[in-house]
Amino acid sequence: MIRTPVCDLLDIEHPIALGGMGSATSPMLVAAVSRAGGLGALGCHYLVPEQIRDRVAAIRAETIKPFGLNFLLFDTREDSFAAALDLRPSVMQFAWARPEQELKVFFDRSHDAGCKVTYMAGAVEEAVRAAKAGADIIIAQGTEGGGHVGWMASMPLIPMVVDAVAPVPVLAAGGFADGRGLVAALALGAQGVLLGTRFLATVESPLHPNFKQAIVDSDGHDTQLSEIPDIAAGLVWPGAMTRSRRNHFIERWAGREWALRQARAEAMSKLRAARESGDVDEGPLSMGQDSGLIHDVPPAGEIVARIAKEAEEILTRGLSRYVVKVH
Ligand SMILES: Cc1cc2nc3c(=O)[nH]c(=O)nc-3n(C[C@H](O)[C@H](O)[C@H](O)COP(=O)(O)O)c2cc1C
Repeated sequence: MIRTPVCDLLDIEHPIALGGMGSATSPMLVAAVSRAGGLGALGCHYLVPEQIRDRVAAIRAETIKPFGLNFLLFDTREDSFAAALDLRPSVMQFAWARPEQELKVFFDRSHDAGCKVTYMAGAVEEAVRAAKAGADIIIAQGTEGGGHVGWMASMPLIPMVVDAVAPVPVLAAGGFADGRGLVAALALGAQGVLLGTRFLATVESPLHPNFKQAIVDSDGHDTQLSEIPDIAAGLVWPGAMTRSRRNHFIERWAGREWALRQARAEAMSKLRAARESGDVDEGPLSMGQDSGLIHDVPPAGEIVARIAKEAEEILTRGLSRYVVKVH
């Protein structure tokens, strides 16, 4: 069994976390990851206090294990944030603050409510800012990942962040989907991984089955980093664009972002309809390059167990196959 100090910090068995992915997470998915010994997290973006309370109750009906609540700081509603703190989750999982936003007030209030604080950063300076503001764990997120990501790849970013924020522990995110990824993250100095795309293609994921299948069908080469989904949603995201499937929707507007700005309302209503009907060509599907490593739609708990087992096997047996001699 692979345990790192973050397992003790978060009171979890395996150093494997779920990214709180807005409406792409659900109480069943969060509970399944936590029950399996990882750290589940519910995306609270756009949820009103009542919805947060209902969903947390649904998680707690399934498991007594720790879980987190995720907030996008640049767009956080005070009433929703306060409701989340009242529920005293084990972890408050933050990401994407505006450059001028004060992080410490959010972190201090979370600590006062008895929560651990994680902050996801796609750049070294942002990671250092969060560590200085008192985050307990930094999530270093590379551009390979799905959803909103920065421009730095995981391979250089993770060790840079590890060095820059030490002794604050780091979890690696962006492009990790299996046990090999966990071992690589540990080799880069991280203490575990946080996964998004891998958990989208699971039984408990709330995505339409067609979207899950699109991830399974992907060879990982069909994603694109673009601002098109945010333009359609009317959002200006600090420090990130979206990595999503390069489908008809993206191709239609690429290079014609000005036209999308003018046709936004109509485009948005078509997007919503496409998402609901499972139209993978017209609906936006945030997913990472690691889609090419995803070949099935198992229960989320099986993913946690599988990654932990594979990483352990590599570390205890597999890796030594390639090491000719260690002096
Ligand atoms: C559909 C989707 C929605 C996401 N929404 C959020 C979010 O609301 N908050 C957040 O902190 N991260 C969000 N993320 C990013 C994940 O937390 C994570 O950093 C990323 O998925 C890691 O890369 P991977 O997809 O290669 O595992 C989202 C990712 C995806 C794929």
